[in-house]
Amino acid sequence: MNDAGHSNIMKPEDTAELRQLYADFEAEHLKPLWTQIDDLMPVVPNPKAVPHVWKWSRLFPLAERSGDLVPVGRGGERRAIGLANPGLGGKAYISPTLWAAIQYLGPRETAPEHRHAQNAFRFVVEGEGVWTVVNGDPVRMSRGDLLLTPGWHFHGHHNDTDKPMAWIDGLDIPFSYQNDVGFFEFGSDRVTDYATPRFSRGERLWAHPGLRPLSELKDTVSSPLGAYRWEFTDRALTEQLLLEDEGQPATVEQGHAAVRYVNPTTGGDVMPTIRAEFHRLRAGASTPPRREVGSSVFQVFEGKGSVALNRTETKLDTGDLFVVPSWVAWSLQAETQFDLFRFSDAPVMERLGFARTQVEEAGR
Ligand SMILES: [Fe+2]
Repeated sequence: MNDAGHSNIMKPEDTAELRQLYADFEAEHLKPLWTQIDDLMPVVPNPKAVPHVWKWSRLFPLAERSGDLVPVGRGGERRAIGLANPGLGGKAYISPTLWAAIQYLGPRETAPEHRHAQNAFRFVVEGEGVWTVVNGDPVRMSRGDLLLTPGWHFHGHHNDTDKPMAWIDGLDIPFSYQNDVGFFEFGSDRVTDYATPRFSRGERLWAHPGLRPLSELKDTVSSPLGAYRWEFTDRALTEQLLLEDEGQPATVEQGHAAVRYVNPTTGGDVMPTIRAEFHRLRAGASTPPRREVGSSVFQVFEGKGSVALNRTETKLDTGDLFVVPSWVAWSLQAETQFDLFRFSDAPVMERLGFARTQVEEAGR
């Protein structure tokens, strides 16, 4: 478009010489900015990842079938099935930075020990009976628990029961892959400790609110506490809503209680690349549409409600997962009391100075 009022518009005339110039660029492995700036530098984030919902009622039977057909062991390492964002070209990335998978371990099975630079966690939406052994410390996995496997910690899992168990894994695999930071090492072909203690050594040392062992005064980049138990999460959320009932400040907004899981040595996020939170809405409550830089994944833990992603609403039940790509507006509506686990790449975005949030005002 040639407009006299915009005489500095950068649109060269399409001539044979120009085409030759572009061909010569190609031959020298050069790409001009001016032909691709809209894609490279959008006015607001324009993610390739798309909002998407995965139903637990469809995921779980598929994981079960994998349990029948695919043995777990050395080589493939884990019976984990990654949630692949439909916008990301078939890769098992739920977002450009995050991996989310359903992992399934059959009765009496062992997933062998290994370690990797990637940070990982497990969140348990149902079931029990598996212990994850992290750097030799057996950690019980039960419903509602968040279990950490920070980067370069050895870990394996074993099922101590006659029933299968499934949970979700969250990792920074796409971030690590894009930036070529991954290292990997095999450990024991079995787990190094088959004990099944109720509480891990890490919890016995660290899980006492507001109390830090004097033997552990050096801050660590990831949390030294490997397990965040449901009873504490539930109690914290319950008390926030009770305090709100009493007219006291406690909730993030009316009817919306929330906690962040933190590293007790720093008060910051549990791991350097992944933030984990838990949100509870009262029946009938909703959150205003929010846009944030970076991506998030939610899993419904309990209750019924819906999510609106760029104003498209989807009903949600226990176990359902959804991804919120960067700058996609999301809001939650609770039909019953509605509990959701959330993880995101916010620690990366905040530390690098890219974080932004926009909350739409009510009625817009
Ligand atoms: Fe692993």
